[in-house]
Amino acid sequence: MPLKGNDQRFGSVAQSLHWLMAIAIIGNGILGWIMHEMPLGMDKLNTYAVHKSIGLTVLALLLLRISWKLFDRRPPDEPMPRWQRLAAHATHGVLYVLMLVIPLSGWFYNSVRGYPLQWFKWFNLPALTEKNEDLVSIAHLVHESLFWVLLGVLAAHVGGALLHHFRERDNTLLRMLPLARLRPRTDGDES
Ligand code: HEM
Ligand code: HEM
Repeated sequence: MPLKGNDQRFGSVAQSLHWLMAIAIIGNGILGWIMHEMPLGMDKLNTYAVHKSIGLTVLALLLLRISWKLFDRRPPDEPMPRWQRLAAHATHGVLYVLMLVIPLSGWFYNSVRGYPLQWFKWFNLPALTEKNEDLVSIAHLVHESLFWVLLGVLAAHVGGALLHHFRERDNTLLRMLPLARLRPRTDGDES
């Protein structure tokens, strides 16, 4: 499969980044909830460290994804009403913003708490700001709430993709799936 996208589908790089990041983000959110409930101890500390490392990886992958977009070609939208096109693009924009601000808000929370930060025990990263007890609860609330916002936006995103797949029976979902056979276009274009 070509690395870059074409008129019919997303390229393999965009697809891989999309699904890898989707799994990492949703998985890391679930891990965040689980670790919050864990009893104090080494297991909890190690799980926190893994959560932070995955979150930082998401941030790095986002930078890669945005850079790749500059060279890549996005397939033109499937035929759909203008309002749906606008809603889909707005949703994508919000998702890009959330993929940036969720890890950054976690990093900020970690900094005001005065916790250390490492990437998979390989190297240390600096704090974004000084330790500040007054900001701890608001930073925590922001980090957690942004994940809830993501879940809401994601419901619209996934719902839209599934509606297009099962009701409109177009290629919106298939063209984001590796190796999926595209459906013939109703205008006779067998792409
Ligand atoms: C994909 C990125 C991320 C997602 C989806 C995410 C999501 C979450 C969620 C849902 C929680 C649980 C909130 C709660 O109930 O306490 C949490 C907690 C936490 N996150 Fe993240 N997070 C991400 C990235 C990061 C990063 C990059 C850092 C730090 C550099 C970080 C640091 C923390 C910390 C320290 C907590 C524990 C809060 C506490 O229990 O005191 N997160 N995160
Ligand atoms: C955290 C999870 C997810 C995030 C952050 C996310 C984000 C995004 C973004 C930003 C785009 C736009 C890509 C671009 O054109 O630059 C996109 C496209 C897409 N996503 Fe997701 N996504 C997630 C999960 C999912 C899931 C679970 C599905 C499954 C139904 C899905 C289906 C799609 C499809 C079909 C497209 C292509 C839409 C089109 O043709 O315009 N996404 N996603």
